[in-house]
Amino acid sequence: MKDIGKIQGAPGTRVAGLRAKLQDCTARVGVIGLGYVGLPLALLCAKAGFQATGFDIDPRKAEKLERGESYIHHIPATSIADEVKKKRFQATTDFTRLKEMNAIIICVPTPLDKHREPDMSFVLNTAKMVSAHLQAGQLIVLESTTYPGTTDEEMLSILEKATLKCPVSAYTTDGTIVTATAAKEPDFYLAFSPEREDPGNKNFQTQQVPKIVGGVNAASALAAQALYQSVFEHTHLVSSSRAAEMTKLLENIYRCVNIALVNELKLLCMRMDIDIWEVIAAAKTKPFGFNAFYPGPGLGGHCIPVDPFYLTWKAREYEFPTRFIELAGEINTAMPHHVVNHLAAALGERGKTLPGARVLVLGAAYKKDIDDVRESPALKIIELLGAHGALVDYHDPFVPRLGKMRKYDFGLESIPLTAETLRVHDCTLIVTDHSAVDYDMVVTESPLVVDTRNATSRVAHHRDKIVPC
Ligand SMILES: NC(=O)c1ccc[n+]([C@@H]2O[C@H](COP(=O)([O-])OP(=O)(O)OC[C@H]3O[C@@H](n4cnc5c(N)ncnc54)[C@H](O)[C@@H]3O)[C@@H](O)[C@H]2O)c1
Repeated sequence: MKDIGKIQGAPGTRVAGLRAKLQDCTARVGVIGLGYVGLPLALLCAKAGFQATGFDIDPRKAEKLERGESYIHHIPATSIADEVKKKRFQATTDFTRLKEMNAIIICVPTPLDKHREPDMSFVLNTAKMVSAHLQAGQLIVLESTTYPGTTDEEMLSILEKATLKCPVSAYTTDGTIVTATAAKEPDFYLAFSPEREDPGNKNFQTQQVPKIVGGVNAASALAAQALYQSVFEHTHLVSSSRAAEMTKLLENIYRCVNIALVNELKLLCMRMDIDIWEVIAAAKTKPFGFNAFYPGPGLGGHCIPVDPFYLTWKAREYEFPTRFIELAGEINTAMPHHVVNHLAAALGERGKTLPGARVLVLGAAYKKDIDDVRESPALKIIELLGAHGALVDYHDPFVPRLGKMRKYDFGLESIPLTAETLRVHDCTLIVTDHSAVDYDMVVTESPLVVDTRNATSRVAHHRDKIVPC
């Protein structure tokens, strides 16, 4: 580290002691919220050599983990059982044990409420629980996606107590080294580091994706950097927690806007009888200046349909309209309606009507080869089909049932995908392009296939039965 005498974190300071423990993995790390983000992260900390403790309010999750079982499809039970056996990972609902941790990472949900405004209740309730057990010298890192200012305004005001302070102060960074003249040492450390988990992505392991880190002051940035350097291959420092919060939003807004763009162009291409998939494949041959995004039945997942609206909400405070986000939202939320209208027209051309038609929805997860149905366009499509009087079944190899959710309660179970089930439905609607599905059989046996994902592109026969959508 350059210029160590001048910067916070010099030898002998409290943060230098914490950094040493984080660097040699003798620190105890707590992860709050053991979902799609928190569980793999806690296991990664354990694998790196930390004593990792997972905290969750759901006792069923803690019990399963303690037994070495998994509840997330792509996280094998063996990877949990191994760490439990080595006593490097444990799970609990006892939040008094937060006191024992040197570092606490928060990975709780940040959804939208029914008015599509940020629901900060999970983050704020967690901050209150941490505050109740906060110890001098602890590092707290928020990973939940949120608007700029959450960490240094809302989290900080809950965490700071009469005796424990963590003043916000500026520092500079070149992406690796923090520089700031020594100021009074904070009593605890607070940082934001966005999660960049991409469930099901086989090309990148979590630890290979660089970790962005921003502190509310230099000492906090240094402490958080030391934690993540022990777990991830690369860290990238930014000069504030706000810059780190905004980085994550930029990444997700970039995806949301570009997906909306191809969705809109798909609608135009359909009208002009041009194959959008062929066009994207051709544009992709350009080695610079073009990143491929693909159209689909609508946005899904916990992040892309939700996160941009956290910024829209915060921007109102600055009287700033986020027009790209609004427009992208409008186009993307119209897609399930487009799919249902298109399906009705395809049935009409075959002398059938949507009311009374049997429709098999193929795929309920929001993207292929995962079991996550949060915000999945399949849910909206099933609702719309039902509202139009269609008789809906679904098949998803990763989602055995669609039970009670926050917004929906279909009470449906995935039916087996057989020649017989395909034949008895008037239409098979491909919503998710899971790799395990035999699309050849789907086309052979179904009277009509409406394909929102280009999943049948390699099927050479019966092309007349396939309606791209
Ligand atoms: N899933 C992803 O791919 C992904 C990717 C990047 C970022 N994120 C962000 O990460 C955050 C977490 O997302 P997720 O997908 O892991 O959510 P999740 O719903 O899978 O898991 C959240 C967990 O937190 C627990 N929880 C809720 N309130 C709690 C509390 N007060 N104390 C302790 N535990 C509590 C829940 O029981 C659940 O186990 C969100 O902000 C999300 O936007 C998610």
